[in-house]
Amino acid sequence: MTRQFFVGGNFKMNPASRDAKRALIKTLNDASLDPNTEVIIAPPALYLIPILDLLRKDVKVAAQNCHSKTSGAFTGETSPTQLVDAGVPYVILGHSERRTLFGETSAIVAEKTRAALDAGLRVILCVGETLAEREVGRTQQVVEEQLQVVVARLSPEDWSRIVIAYEPVWAIGTGKVATAAQAQEVHANTRKYLVSAVSSAVAESTRIIYGGSVTAANCKELSASTFDSKGFQELNGHVGTQADVDGFLVGGASLKPEFVNIVNSKA
Ligand code: G3P
Repeated sequence: MTRQFFVGGNFKMNPASRDAKRALIKTLNDASLDPNTEVIIAPPALYLIPILDLLRKDVKVAAQNCHSKTSGAFTGETSPTQLVDAGVPYVILGHSERRTLFGETSAIVAEKTRAALDAGLRVILCVGETLAEREVGRTQQVVEEQLQVVVARLSPEDWSRIVIAYEPVWAIGTGKVATAAQAQEVHANTRKYLVSAVSSAVAESTRIIYGGSVTAANCKELSASTFDSKGFQELNGHVGTQADVDGFLVGGASLKPEFVNIVNSKA
């Protein structure tokens, strides 16, 4: 089966003005985008509704976070139900900035993922190891621990609405991108993990995208190979092709015109 290539732009707490936001949307609206790639942008919550009105309809919108409850006394929060009601189809959950700066544990991420799916959202679920964890050889263990808590809350059917974003913390905003082989290795092992933790069908159909200093200059190499329909099992450890890299979650470069080149990296 073929997994549709997916490119998300995570604006984080950017841009700093409505004028800059309008300029970003204009660039996207005027661009020629690969129709075979699913494209999502995740602006700050304040801009979600105006962007839904302004943005071309073949580009989707994601929130960068949500609460796990439908409504209530949670000052400063946005509920998954409110996102669905506003017409937002996706939410990013478990981003490392949420985990480290805002104290979100894997249990909280799992709770939010369950609530988001129950409300009708699709989830871009972020996982990834720190540099210290990579250096002691714990990369895969960390990724699987982060996933395991979510796996326990999901049914096999839920996975059609999950995109996993592998974002090594050491590569986020640092300019230090993972090599294509490093990304492929984690993606292939994560797919293998999904076989045992969920099912072969889910492992084969779930998109696993890479995030961390992706730019127009490195995106082609990171996504260098097309998916081999003969089966991901054969490709495990097959260094030299990135058959398990199904797209990107882009931070800094999503605020620049080069985001269009990243979207078009498979064209
Ligand atoms: O979610 C995207 C991300 O954290 C990567 O950010 O700026 O390294 O592309 P950046």
